[in-house]
Amino acid sequence: MRGAGVARGGRVTAGAGAALLVVLLVLLVPAGATPTTDNHALDACAARTSADDDRDACAGAASCYMAALPTQTATPQQPTPSSPDTDRNAAAAAAAATAEQQEQENAATWRSGPPGFDGELAACNIARVDAGQITRAQFLSIYHEKTPVILTNLETNTRFRELTERQALVESHGDRTVTLSSANTYSYDKRKISFKTYVDTMLGEQSRTMLGNETFYMFGDHDWADWQDLFQFYVEPPFTPDGMLSALSFGVAGPLSGVPMHHHGCGFSESIHGRKRWFLYPPHTVPNFHPDQTTLRWVLDVYPQLKASGDPDLYECVVHPNEAIYFPSNWWHATFNLDECVFMSTFLAF
Ligand SMILES: *[C@@H]1O[C@H](CO)[C@@H](O)[C@H](O)[C@H]1NC(C)=O
Repeated sequence: MRGAGVARGGRVTAGAGAALLVVLLVLLVPAGATPTTDNHALDACAARTSADDDRDACAGAASCYMAALPTQTATPQQPTPSSPDTDRNAAAAAAAATAEQQEQENAATWRSGPPGFDGELAACNIARVDAGQITRAQFLSIYHEKTPVILTNLETNTRFRELTERQALVESHGDRTVTLSSANTYSYDKRKISFKTYVDTMLGEQSRTMLGNETFYMFGDHDWADWQDLFQFYVEPPFTPDGMLSALSFGVAGPLSGVPMHHHGCGFSESIHGRKRWFLYPPHTVPNFHPDQTTLRWVLDVYPQLKASGDPDLYECVVHPNEAIYFPSNWWHATFNLDECVFMSTFLAF
């Protein structure tokens, strides 16, 4: 059973987001690079974005814009003759950059990701159910091991949300060692790093060119004992069947990062901070993906084709703070963090 999607947010916002994205991308082209932007292609992208019936304007437009923008070729910088004026300007620019970096490192709260990647919430075709309006018995008979569902209005983790705000978490857990996993489907390669270093240096936007197996982030692997002082404040979604055990898995990740298609046992994943976009396929399907490709590349390259050809098996939605997605066993899923995200998964097993 596929539930009715609930549209939150509007096309106007999405269009504006895509417009902002193009401005940002254009600004990113450094002086010195050969300006070969295809303006006709950009106009075509803008037209797509404003098309009223294009449910995928954002995701489609993002890849559209990427394709229209010039490929970067490093042009050697011409040495500019030094003058007191340019020196002063350079010094001021350097000071501003340092101040900005300092400010970012000291940010008290988690930051939003770039616009243009939420695919519009109207694309959501997974049932969204108020957690307070459904009993455990109803959850078990309607959804458990049958179909994904998003539980809304959880409202149970206000305290945990405070404790995992950026500054609070770095202050309380910055010196803990965390294990990072590579963001590909099969071979979760591992790296160890202090949590503070991770937050300060590894939460930048996912690179468009890096491979998933060469991208590392923090999810799914930690020493429970080390984090018990924090996890004790997490309240699990109250729908675990009798006799099943739950294992918690905590994650912190930067914008546009994610794990490509994979599957495992059933469970919940709650967004604590930031929005996380989910793509799922039923167990009997064979999704189109490369196990070492990032979710970002999949969103830019594969997703628009799937949407253009109409893919009846694809389930998708964005999960917000105070919401948790339930995924049944063996459902394929790919995750895509839209912002700096803090999330807690509850894996269920007998
Ligand atoms: C990552 O995956 C690609 C393609 O599957 C492969 O060519 C490359 O060697 C891998 N890199 C590492 C570090 O394993």
